[in-house]
Amino acid sequence: SVAARAGGAGTPFTTWILQQEMEEKIDGELAVVLSSIGLACKQIASLVQRAGLQGMTGLAGETNVQGEDQKKLDVISNDVFCDVLRQTGRTGVIASEEEDVPVAVEETFGGNYVVVFDPLDGSSNIDAAVSTGSIWGIYESDSTCIPDFGTEDAAKIEEKCVMNVCQPGNNLLCAGYCMYSSSTILVLTLGEGVYGFTLDPTVGEFIMSHDNIKVPESGKIYSFNEGNYDMWTPGLKKYMDSLKTGGAEQGTKPYSARYIGSLVGDFHRTILYGGIYGYPGDSKNPNGKLRLLYECAPMSFIAEQAGGMGSTGKERVLDVVPEKFHQRVPFFTGSKKEVQYLESFM
Ligand code: AHG
Ligand code: MN
Ligand code: MN
Ligand code: MN
Repeated sequence: SVAARAGGAGTPFTTWILQQEMEEKIDGELAVVLSSIGLACKQIASLVQRAGLQGMTGLAGETNVQGEDQKKLDVISNDVFCDVLRQTGRTGVIASEEEDVPVAVEETFGGNYVVVFDPLDGSSNIDAAVSTGSIWGIYESDSTCIPDFGTEDAAKIEEKCVMNVCQPGNNLLCAGYCMYSSSTILVLTLGEGVYGFTLDPTVGEFIMSHDNIKVPESGKIYSFNEGNYDMWTPGLKKYMDSLKTGGAEQGTKPYSARYIGSLVGDFHRTILYGGIYGYPGDSKNPNGKLRLLYECAPMSFIAEQAGGMGSTGKERVLDVVPEKFHQRVPFFTGSKKEVQYLESFM
């Protein structure tokens, strides 16, 4: 959009948001939600960088509804996101990887927006200070699911919150992530291109560093956890074997393997350098590991806005209508040609 173009490299995130609002790409409410998410990411970046010094590494001693052992920073990052979204008063419902059920922000349920998020992605890496991230998606609140706090009981309120949150990725107004790595980089789309902002720690503000990211059409980098190879389908094994002898152009240079084990880090490298990231289903977990709502759908919106793809191997991730809000889907994303080549084996 003109405003984003007018913004351009060097534009502070706060300024860019106000430009989007002036251009009526977003309303004032969404501008508030976006700047509060930027604040949450700055707070988490600071916590992650000091984790080892403040006794914030290691396990929290709890497991989340997914059966994962929560890290202390999983819980702390979740609290940061929930508090920031509650305090802005423009969010109706929030759903998090670390919350059993979607939470209605009762104080201001009139808030127009539903925010889904993975507060700390790749948290298994945190104790070794390997890159991690936060992922979010923002939907319009579905007006038919606004609970009546005065008359409806907790079960009815929860049921409406789950319905409000279970929207297909095609409905996303915004998707973004923040990567906590050698740089802290916030990447997002509002449906008109993908923009990246690097945190300038001397100012404490995200500054636009990537104006209109485009995924290379193809790329010889693949990012899978090949430890699961034996549990993959025959088609997927054939695909993976073919990469070792050049992929679509057999007999040419083999692909390189790059796997950080944090979706945000692997995804960010994939959209900048090209290639493919995949977390397939296998005989143990037919739907794979990654969650549709706050990992695969937001990342697919970003990938498509950057000219790439987000696929379950059989269909566009953004077309999938969630039944359960922690549901998992097989996930393949990155360069269009690479994802299409994979799909030809599925
Ligand atoms: P989270 O830390 O939010 O639970 O996500 C972890 C995910 C994703 O970040 C990463 O790509 C994947 O798990 C790694 O899984 P494996 O360790 O099974 O490869
Ligand atoms: Mn987790
Ligand atoms: Mn995650
Ligand atoms: Mn997580």
